[in-house]
Amino acid sequence: MSVITAPVNTPAATQDFLPLMGTDYVEFYVGNAKQAAHFYKTAFGFQGLAYAGPETGVKDRVSYVLRQNKLTFVLTTPLYPEGAIAEHIHLHGDGVKVLALKVGDARAAWTETTTRGARSYMEPFVLKDEQGEVVLSGIHTYGDTVHVFVERKNYSGLFMPGYKALTSAYNPPSTGLLYVDHCVGNVGWNQMDIWVKFYEEVMGFRNILSFDDKDISTEYSALMSKVMSNGNGYVKFPINEPAEGKKKSQVEEYLDFYRGEGVQHVAIATADIIATVTGLQQRGVEFLKVPASYYDDLLDRVGHIDEDLQPLRELGILVDRDDEGYLLQIFTRPLEDRPTLFFEIIQRKGAQSFGKGNFKALFEALEREQEARGNL
Ligand code: FE2
Repeated sequence: MSVITAPVNTPAATQDFLPLMGTDYVEFYVGNAKQAAHFYKTAFGFQGLAYAGPETGVKDRVSYVLRQNKLTFVLTTPLYPEGAIAEHIHLHGDGVKVLALKVGDARAAWTETTTRGARSYMEPFVLKDEQGEVVLSGIHTYGDTVHVFVERKNYSGLFMPGYKALTSAYNPPSTGLLYVDHCVGNVGWNQMDIWVKFYEEVMGFRNILSFDDKDISTEYSALMSKVMSNGNGYVKFPINEPAEGKKKSQVEEYLDFYRGEGVQHVAIATADIIATVTGLQQRGVEFLKVPASYYDDLLDRVGHIDEDLQPLRELGILVDRDDEGYLLQIFTRPLEDRPTLFFEIIQRKGAQSFGKGNFKALFEALEREQEARGNL
């Protein structure tokens, strides 16, 4: 069963040693950043913000920075087959490398986490230009994924020193995506509690929700999940681990194709999920489909909702309720050919949970796809 083990907004007994102001950016290592940037602009409604590459003095890679409201994506491709970025793409395919967190003091964030046992990815260093300075540092988390701490309070430029403006005559309209709600990591067998402990001890997070394999199982496959949150609730990282079922867990399929632990999905908030998902579908974004029967007794399960049922049914948007309100959510199909990373689109109307009531319908939809790939 699921247990709320600690409320999100209770002040910690001790001072937060790692105050986080939210997600700064998500960086993807991809095979072709130019084309990926076009995809995220066209399909998801991002705008170009900044660019780094040979033209700005970076010799071995290019990075496109895209933005939509408070959501910033960095798409990075190596220019040569040598080096860590190329190796990352060779092993994992396109995927999330960096979950960057906004801090007031990147030096302190590095010291506080590394003295508590984090493995350093990047010692604190300063980037400067005419617009001021950005301080960066970083630590490793699960798999080859890292957290970069970004201190930009003394910077007034577009993104960071070393980037120039990325402008284009092609600027498709926004789809109303607002900010990162949560980022989910898939970890290996018996690894979930190790990473729960990492986020508790090294980063001062708390385990606010737990789901065991009885919550998250279908006839065939199962997984377990624990939601980690920082003190102010701005940063939430659920951690999934596969569980034994009759057939292969979807988390195991991810681990097989990603060749290790990594980010399974990024959940993105919207204030109008019907408008957002209508726009995304018109632009070719593909979503998981639940059976039409999901909607037959939906209102009996979740009670009154403000939205009309018909557009939810047509778009395949799911609804769940908890003690504080309700939420609407939908999941894209994988964004790459490997069945690894996908996005969730979420609109919260009071609810602070994660759609537990939808797990079964959702995982059955996932399994239909897993089976079609021959991996169930
Ligand atoms: Fe999620």
